[in-house]
Amino acid sequence: MTAKSMEDLVSLCKRRGFVFQSGEIYGGLKGTYDYGPLGVELKNNLKNAWWRAMIYDRDDTEGLDSAVLSNRLIFKHSGHETTFTDPLVDCKKCKQRMRADKLLVPGKCDFCGSTELTEPRDFNLMMKVNIGPVVDENSYAYLRPETAQGIFVNFKNIMDATSKKVPFGIAQIGKAFRNEITPRNFIFRVREFEQMEMEFFVKPGEDEKWHKYWIEERKKWWLKQGLSEENLDFEVHEKADLAHYAKACTDIVYKFPHGVEELEGIANRCDFDLGSHTKDAVELGVKAKVLENKDSSSKLSYTDPYTKETYVPFVIEPSAGVDRGALAILNEAYTEEELENGDKRIFLRLKPHLAPVKVAIVPLAKNNPQIMEKAEELRDRLKILGIGKIVLETSGNVGKCYRKHDEIGTPVCLTVDFETLEKNPETITIRDRDTMSQIRLPMSEVINYISNFFKYV
Ligand code: GLY
Repeated sequence: MTAKSMEDLVSLCKRRGFVFQSGEIYGGLKGTYDYGPLGVELKNNLKNAWWRAMIYDRDDTEGLDSAVLSNRLIFKHSGHETTFTDPLVDCKKCKQRMRADKLLVPGKCDFCGSTELTEPRDFNLMMKVNIGPVVDENSYAYLRPETAQGIFVNFKNIMDATSKKVPFGIAQIGKAFRNEITPRNFIFRVREFEQMEMEFFVKPGEDEKWHKYWIEERKKWWLKQGLSEENLDFEVHEKADLAHYAKACTDIVYKFPHGVEELEGIANRCDFDLGSHTKDAVELGVKAKVLENKDSSSKLSYTDPYTKETYVPFVIEPSAGVDRGALAILNEAYTEEELENGDKRIFLRLKPHLAPVKVAIVPLAKNNPQIMEKAEELRDRLKILGIGKIVLETSGNVGKCYRKHDEIGTPVCLTVDFETLEKNPETITIRDRDTMSQIRLPMSEVINYISNFFKYV
């Protein structure tokens, strides 16, 4: 099941502390959001799952964390200064600004319905910031609009430091910024967001094979995060829709509450990027159309250690959005069901590795010192497993605790009650979020049970 509407998700996110409007007490800042106590856990869990798949489970990749503030020459030579634009139109009547290519009805203002729109003009999406004490035309840098460029400009550093052989990839997770004309759809299209990007370097001629490989790999990964086959699809870009650097691109699209949109793009960027940042591109036989680079001090080529062939590698780029990934996962997990007594239950059917709280320990009587002591002992023994957030839940009665943890997707609640104290050995009730079924296990077995339950394979 999924959420019926974006409003369901927005309301749950605010109520339970996943996502807040940024700077809300001052009226907010459009296109920016803050992730609350549960949102930051969900996002970290998603990023950790990606990092594990991209770095720890493979032998042909390395990680990077490059700076957000970027020398403007990076984005001059990447082509972003001239081509990273959206077409902007103004409504002459209500003065609102919109993207010409995303109007709800082509030729009509989204806000007042007027057809009196200006001619579209290119609007660059990059955010400039002043650097240092002097504010003038030349003292600015860019907040990166994609993490990818940090990888390309570090290509030689990483090759020299690691002696990796092509094919190999460099992966990075980090913030990116775009001055979106009309941020919208909650955390889907925002001005400050996080990307999970892999730039996978391959020999020219082997690029199409690797492009196919990554399209399949990435879909498998999203399925593993709990998205369902029926809500995922591929969309192949038409040549006219390709970004300035791409030879081909396939999007993995997801059925969000507001419509089917891109979750991840997998582009074949050919040798455009290394070719644009390298010196001596012509001499190196770069195949993409690139401008001569007189600013770069480095040759970004690769020499095969066996054949001694030198070439500029092609790049396959799986590029996923963390925020829209979190939105898709919340949407997919959102489940409403009617209970036998007619009550409605909302629960998040999150995969255990993504759940913000892993285990809630619920003491049946908060004022009973023996029960509290057992609950605290259990909490401490679970904490050292290192599986994530363990909560000792002391708010409300046991029914309310279950409802709360259902709604935030806690997979397991452990209840310490009077029977725990009476039995020898002591037993604990284990309640499953999805089925609400309960079993009792001796305390000594509970630790193993939890450890196995959260094993992510
Ligand atoms: N690096 C691809 C993108 O940011 O869309």
